[in-house]
Amino acid sequence: MSGDLSEYSKIDNIMKNHSLEESALISILHEIENLYNYLPDWALRHISEKLNISMIQVYGVASFYDAFHLKPRGKHLIRVCKGTACYLRGATQVFEALERELGIKEGETTRDQKFSLQSVHCLGACALAPVVLIGERYFDKTSPTKIRSVLKKV
Ligand code: FES
Repeated sequence: MSGDLSEYSKIDNIMKNHSLEESALISILHEIENLYNYLPDWALRHISEKLNISMIQVYGVASFYDAFHLKPRGKHLIRVCKGTACYLRGATQVFEALERELGIKEGETTRDQKFSLQSVHCLGACALAPVVLIGERYFDKTSPTKIRSVLKKV
């Protein structure tokens, strides 16, 4: 997406709620990330002009924090826990099964933009290991053989 006029006006609306100063950058980036699930390049350029700060500074902040993503992400973010409990109960094999099933690697998004895949550390549900979180939904005691049916439930 290159950012048509209505998209630019969405960014302008977000910026209306903030001071047009550099200190507002992180808050603005959070709102844009929430809106698009990543930070589109055209939006970053727009912010850079509006806040009168360089693209290097904007990119510097956008790439520093894990909460921000510079590439489009899938509609559903799949997080596979690789914390100790999950690791010991086969999280690596679950992750590999997802890679095979979706045809993507860590940090990538499927061509249809439906899924993105990421590994994370403890999700706080160790007794139910191995745990996979898809969007806001937990799938517990997963295994490579359950992956296909898990994906169908999304
Ligand atoms: S280690 Fe996976 S939920 Fe804690």
